[in-house]
Amino acid sequence: MRHLLSTGDLSRDEATLILDTAEELAQVGDRSVKKLPTLRGRTVVNLFYEDSTRTRTSFELAAKRLSADVINFSAKGSSVSKGESLKDTALTLQAMGADGVVIRHSASGAAHRLANWVDGSVLNAGDGTHEHPTQALLDAFTMRSRLGRLEGLRVAIVGDILHSRVARSNVLLLTTLGAHVTLVAPPTLLPVSVHTWPCEVSYDLDDVLPKSDVVMLLRVQAERMHESFFPSEREYSRRFGLDGERLGRMPQDAIVMHPGPMVRGMEISAEVADSPRCTVTEQVANGVSLRMAVLYLLLGGS
Ligand code: CP
Repeated sequence: MRHLLSTGDLSRDEATLILDTAEELAQVGDRSVKKLPTLRGRTVVNLFYEDSTRTRTSFELAAKRLSADVINFSAKGSSVSKGESLKDTALTLQAMGADGVVIRHSASGAAHRLANWVDGSVLNAGDGTHEHPTQALLDAFTMRSRLGRLEGLRVAIVGDILHSRVARSNVLLLTTLGAHVTLVAPPTLLPVSVHTWPCEVSYDLDDVLPKSDVVMLLRVQAERMHESFFPSEREYSRRFGLDGERLGRMPQDAIVMHPGPMVRGMEISAEVADSPRCTVTEQVANGVSLRMAVLYLLLGGS
């Protein structure tokens, strides 16, 4: 494996190796093992053309815990504002000796294009509405840690599937790992191709909730849609929002997930977001060891 562009490229064995490696690396960063020397002398570039809180900081922390040198590149304040292309930016960073490039970009396919231009490994940190593979891997890691298995798990992914790279990456990965996925959304927030995806589709959250081991909520991505298509907050939350009453209708051991950022009061109530059954902060913590595992497996060789 040279790049991580799509969870669809991962075999079951490769995905399991990443999760197992993340489990082994989870202790790094605590008081006893602050850092590993594995990536000493290697350079990781964080190339972010879109905003990020979790992905960017956890990739930086992960690379530093493996002793890599890290360059944080943000399109804002760079020569991108003078018209420099993605290709020229990538070649510039390569000339500085980047061994790995972590890219987030608003264009679907940007990470694949970059992989054709640079010699190092490319890690897709979210490309448009296409994929976000490390988010899906950390989600699977969190499910396995909390529930002890992935095989046979019933996972509902609820919300704006149309604009979600997290949904696509999760569907591809979770089905490879033996889980059953149901997408729940209003028809206007589903892609037309959804019936070719390896999952079920429902428009009725209340029907799906009692049959789910995991409910993953997604934010409605207003920034990617025309204002006139944006659903009313009240109506959306009435049909697709998870509140305390709906949480009570889920199986007792079932968990609530969210990749963040959350909009409290829309897709998730404050009561549910702050409940011990909600794994949001656990997902963030797991994201560091998961991204360490990916960097270790891609860049750790000679
Ligand atoms: N989940 C996620 O990708 O969050 P950020 O946009 O903050 O990186």
